[in-house]
Amino acid sequence: MKRSWGGAMSKIESLSALEILDSRGRPTVLAYCRLADGGAASASVPSGASTGAAEALELRDGDKARYGGLGCLQAVANINGEINRALAGRQFESQAALDQRLLDLDGSPNKARLGANAILAVSLAFCRAQAAQRQSPLYSHLARLAKETPRLPRPMINLFSGGAHGGGQVTIQDTQLVVPAADTIQRTLEVLSDIFRAAADLTAERYDMRLLRADEGGLAPPFESSEAMLSAAVEAIERAGYQPGTEVALTLDVAASQFYSSAGYQLDGALRTREAMIDTLERWCADYPIISIEDGLQEADWEGWVQLRRRLPGRVMILGDDLLCTNADRIQRAIDLKAADSLLLKVNQMGTLTEALAALKLARRADWRVVVSARSGETEDDWLADLAAGWAGDYIKVGSITQSERLAKYNRLLALEAQGGL
Ligand code: PGA
Ligand code: ZN
Repeated sequence: MKRSWGGAMSKIESLSALEILDSRGRPTVLAYCRLADGGAASASVPSGASTGAAEALELRDGDKARYGGLGCLQAVANINGEINRALAGRQFESQAALDQRLLDLDGSPNKARLGANAILAVSLAFCRAQAAQRQSPLYSHLARLAKETPRLPRPMINLFSGGAHGGGQVTIQDTQLVVPAADTIQRTLEVLSDIFRAAADLTAERYDMRLLRADEGGLAPPFESSEAMLSAAVEAIERAGYQPGTEVALTLDVAASQFYSSAGYQLDGALRTREAMIDTLERWCADYPIISIEDGLQEADWEGWVQLRRRLPGRVMILGDDLLCTNADRIQRAIDLKAADSLLLKVNQMGTLTEALAALKLARRADWRVVVSARSGETEDDWLADLAAGWAGDYIKVGSITQSERLAKYNRLLALEAQGGL
């Protein structure tokens, strides 16, 4: 018998946490939430490397004697101590009420006191525990929270990496693929697997290397320029027997804040102005089958983004990651200015599900597209797949089709597809 949904209260019995390791071998936070009438769940949080300046603060111990200062023991202690003391035994009628209590308890503007990693781990573990209590799959629980009709997102998959994810061999961060010609997750992964193998052969031939993988599992050969990365992607698509553009398209995460300084953009060994960057991106979009540009300019250049959006063809999504930081105020500004038309949604940029949901709703009301995204430091937890499906993301961006922290999400999508449950 399913419990009724409406108005049910959830009393927290206990919250606890421990430090675990992410896909880069760096510490992160895993939280457990136990509800008084039965639901119990855990959730772990990811961590970025090319982070936006406006992101909520991930609390790190700073003790150089452990993990070079990246330990999360303080964040864990905050859950086991202060957060558990404040929340255990209390009833919450909704995710929003729980998240508001966490915000009030933290009291800082960017979650610096308790840590966005601690707060998000609790927010997610509570969500899962409530789903379990209500005997609802996580995606449908999330869909009800968001008042969305669940659907499977289209995967946006990492092929080549440079920038902060790929040891800096090439300036721009990620060249990714989407498969407009596939209408299932299963077929998308088959096509991408063919192209990934073709790309691995190509880099073996051309750069005499086979397996240098970046943080998200993409290939990271020492391309001589960012454009060489784009043309190798097109070549790999063709070698695998697919039509670039119609069957398989490119999306870029330029991550321009990473190579910007007050002197300009240091792209492929040359310093460029904002105008030169826009010219370059415009030319790339004319010469390559690109359908999305993420962070084409640095995160503080609102005026530049407005120009970029005007200059790029309408088919190209102007996708804000560092620019927006899943932050409702920044998204509203981008809507008002017409500085972007798509949201990269990373829950840990804000630190609670409720705030991420506010970001989603704003984007939806403006008719934007939404790309639900993992971080470069991930765990084997698969909640992101349920979030992308439950919140009806247009795309999901998880990284390459290698490495289990990535595949956990794709495999969950495959399972949802096989159940036909959406
Ligand atoms: P990050 O990068 O997780 O390292 O911040 C991902 C992205 O820029 O989209
Ligand atoms: Zn990005």
